Amino acid sequence: MISRDDALAHDAADGLAFARARFSLPAGTIYLDGNSLGALPRRTAARIAATVTREWGERLIGSWHDAGDGHGWVDTPARIGAKIARLVGAAADEVIVADSVSVNVFKLAAAALALRPGRRTIVTAADDFPTDAYVLDGLARLAGAELRVAADPLAALDGSVALLWLTQTHYRTGAVRDLAATTAAAHAAGAVMGWDLSHSTGAIEVDLTAANADLATGCGYKFLNGGPGAPAFAYAARQHHAALVQPLSGWFGHAAPFAFKERFRPADGVARLLSGTPGILGLAALASGVATFDGVDMAAAAAKSHALGDLLIALVEERCPQVGIACPRTGRGAQVSLSHPDAEALTQTLIARGIVGDFRPPDVLRLGLPALYTRFVDVWDAVEVLAAVLAA
Ligand SMILES: Cc1ncc(COP(=O)(O)O)c(C=O)c1O
Repeated sequence: MISRDDALAHDAADGLAFARARFSLPAGTIYLDGNSLGALPRRTAARIAATVTREWGERLIGSWHDAGDGHGWVDTPARIGAKIARLVGAAADEVIVADSVSVNVFKLAAAALALRPGRRTIVTAADDFPTDAYVLDGLARLAGAELRVAADPLAALDGSVALLWLTQTHYRTGAVRDLAATTAAAHAAGAVMGWDLSHSTGAIEVDLTAANADLATGCGYKFLNGGPGAPAFAYAARQHHAALVQPLSGWFGHAAPFAFKERFRPADGVARLLSGTPGILGLAALASGVATFDGVDMAAAAAKSHALGDLLIALVEERCPQVGIACPRTGRGAQVSLSHPDAEALTQTLIARGIVGDFRPPDVLRLGLPALYTRFVDVWDAVEVLAAVLAA
């Protein structure tokens, strides 16, 4: 039997325990849904307040170029992008914060079609988070391209494929695709490789550079703790920057937005992935969220989340024979997925008892395990409640 003291001993030995103080977590709740909406960083409210009262209220429009900290609002997408870059194994100038994941999928996939003239097929996976395929379908119709939504996307590659677009960490099962091997398969078929890193960024170790990945996007409101509807990020490998053409070529992606020239001239580098004016209040919250990773080694964070998941699985197997394990034992994101025929009602009952996870159809109770604020004892206490609910 794994005891509560065993869990407490893990917490006592946890090299990342310091990070929990960076968050404001409600008493009486065990929050296991940070993979859907990251918890509130303690500094976010003050950060937004300063942006509103000092930068907006006092410096007004001057803040676009000097918000009083030596930087202007206009640089914020690139500055936060540079910090996210460290978390995904990219160079600082390969990542920019922009729009939502859905919008970035559109821009990046269109850019991929332009990188492979003569090829008109996009391949994606049937069971990935659906927004990607929805957007790719819209793009394909607009561009006169073919979208293949395949159960086995690698088997769907052929000489007509311009882009293989996949999610690395599966939203429901937590299964993680091999970034380097999958990218190599796309390249062997002559295709550009694009990644949705929404459930990977800030959750597992990602090395876009080592994987030789081409394009990627990821979410700001999950593991990056950027707040509800936080802007997303977009990545393009430096080798593609000069040829990168995206169709939402708005003024913020212009080489000289404030010159108000008649013709569009793309900015150098990933800045050309910007479209319109970035939401500065949302960026202030995202900056605070990304700062919760300051001094945090992603390898250590990933290892801790995996250990939390291993403990959860072991406890469930010991105490909850009514539920199945619906995630991989190894090679998992920062979550555990459990299956139960009444998973939806079970999720609601747990939430009423202060254990916040979420339900994903058809039968999955999904429990997120962000390393920065989840304790081993939280996992133990959550399974204690789960076992009691199931026994009742
Ligand atoms: C894998 C994945 N991609 C994209 C999204 C949605 O991104 P956005 O709302 O920024 O368009 C989600 C949301 O949960 C997701 O899990």
